[in-house]
Amino acid sequence: MAIKPPLLLLLLSLIATSASLSSAHNITEMLSAFPDYSLYNSYLTQTKLCDEINTRQTLTVFVLNNAAMSALAKHPLSVVKNVLSLLIVLDYFDNQKLHSITDGSMLSTTLYQTTGDAKGNFGFVNITDLKGGKVGFGSAAPGSPLDSTYTKSVKQVPYNISVMEISAPIIAPGLLSAPAPSVSQVNLTATLEKAGCKIFASLLASSGVLKNYQDAMDKGLTILAPNDEAFKKPEVPDTAGMRVAQLVSLLEYHALPSYSPPGALKAATGPVSTLASGVRKFAFRVATSGDEVTLDTGVDKSRIASTVLDDAPLCILTVDNVLLPEELFPHAPASAPSPVPVSAPAPSPVAEAPSPVAEVPAPAAASPPAPTAAGSEASPSEAPAESADSKGASSGDKARPLCTAAALVFGSFACFLLLLL
Ligand SMILES: *[C@@H]1O[C@H](CO)[C@@H](O)[C@H](O)[C@H]1NC(C)=O
Ligand SMILES: *[C@@H]1O[C@H](CO)[C@@H](O)[C@H](O)[C@H]1NC(C)=O
Ligand SMILES: *[C@@H]1O[C@H](CO)[C@@H](O)[C@H](O)[C@H]1NC(C)=O
Ligand SMILES: *[C@@H]1O[C@H](CO)[C@@H](O)[C@H](O)[C@H]1NC(C)=O
Repeated sequence: MAIKPPLLLLLLSLIATSASLSSAHNITEMLSAFPDYSLYNSYLTQTKLCDEINTRQTLTVFVLNNAAMSALAKHPLSVVKNVLSLLIVLDYFDNQKLHSITDGSMLSTTLYQTTGDAKGNFGFVNITDLKGGKVGFGSAAPGSPLDSTYTKSVKQVPYNISVMEISAPIIAPGLLSAPAPSVSQVNLTATLEKAGCKIFASLLASSGVLKNYQDAMDKGLTILAPNDEAFKKPEVPDTAGMRVAQLVSLLEYHALPSYSPPGALKAATGPVSTLASGVRKFAFRVATSGDEVTLDTGVDKSRIASTVLDDAPLCILTVDNVLLPEELFPHAPASAPSPVPVSAPAPSPVAEAPSPVAEVPAPAAASPPAPTAAGSEASPSEAPAESADSKGASSGDKARPLCTAAALVFGSFACFLLLLL
């Protein structure tokens, strides 16, 4: 009886641990048990393809061992990403299924096909059951050789994810010779204007934030550009009336100091830091429903509308609404009614402006300024983030795997108790 409370704590912490997992599998963790695939695994992380894998079901990851992978690794990251995308097949194959393909040959859809970059059927792979028990792989592009073969099965979680080793990458025509996008040569202004974000582009230029974006580009940058319609909505404060420091923070809030394509944003479980993050949070949360990704600032929400450019380390996305950080707009229309009408932002943005690419703050570091600046302001502005958090945790998508996980934990706990007795 005396051991009960600690065990209960253990049980609770086990449940808490499983509650923090947002998906059924974690490819990074699965592959970490196999040193042969460490290079492959590291590239899945660098290209964020791991997030794409973790948020999908019914797929097969064809892995390459370190020797095969190192030959590929001399190519630019954008090329490696495309090649690896072609090894992630949106269908479940195990040893048995590979050897029982109807008519001996089939085309299968890969993650590369979903990027929209694939020409013709270049996003499909040809899987052919060759004579003598061998299985060959090649691009579905006409005339492609089947120069990769199945070597062994690595790990399966039927019928969610299967990991199988093949001998060589599957190369679609032109894939390896694609020029590496030179990030420093991307004209952000022209790219944003062409994507229908003229107002945003001109604000970036006039405020000088464009330079901050450019400086951050090499190390990874994701731009969340509101389109011109977004700036015309009545709830958006007039940018012409903003103080410079405020405008700078607002614009920096629309970029992340990392390469985070939609697939990676989808996988975010906690607050996402932005270029504006520093002493104050300037973060937002992400909610997903199917393929739709919604950013929630605590004040307003916006859908990710389109992908303008996705070339690691730069990603440019458009959003339907201007993202209003609660640090600047605690009293914006959508937020809960506030007891004290404090005149907009606290003085601190001025101090933050000179250091745009601040480190991601620990949650604890972000709270102290609030009470000193305006104690009454702290709770209303914190509140929306908390409620968004609990909404996210109980959303329908996640509820089912969580229950299953909890049931599993309870089951193993019961067995453990029985063993003890
Ligand atoms: C497969 O995925 C579903 C949905 O995420 C999950 O409920 C199920 O437990 C998974 N199966 C296994 C064996 O992990
Ligand atoms: C997956 O596992 C890796 C390594 O164990 C860990 O660092 C990462 O946070 C996990 N990802 C998710 C989404 O849980
Ligand atoms: C796969 O490739 C082989 C060899 O090029 C070819 O004979 C076969 O028809 C292809 N399979 C499909 C389904 O296109
Ligand atoms: C970038 O594009 C803008 C708008 O098209 C143009 O005015 C500017 O000169 C370009 N900058 C460079 C460095 O080419």
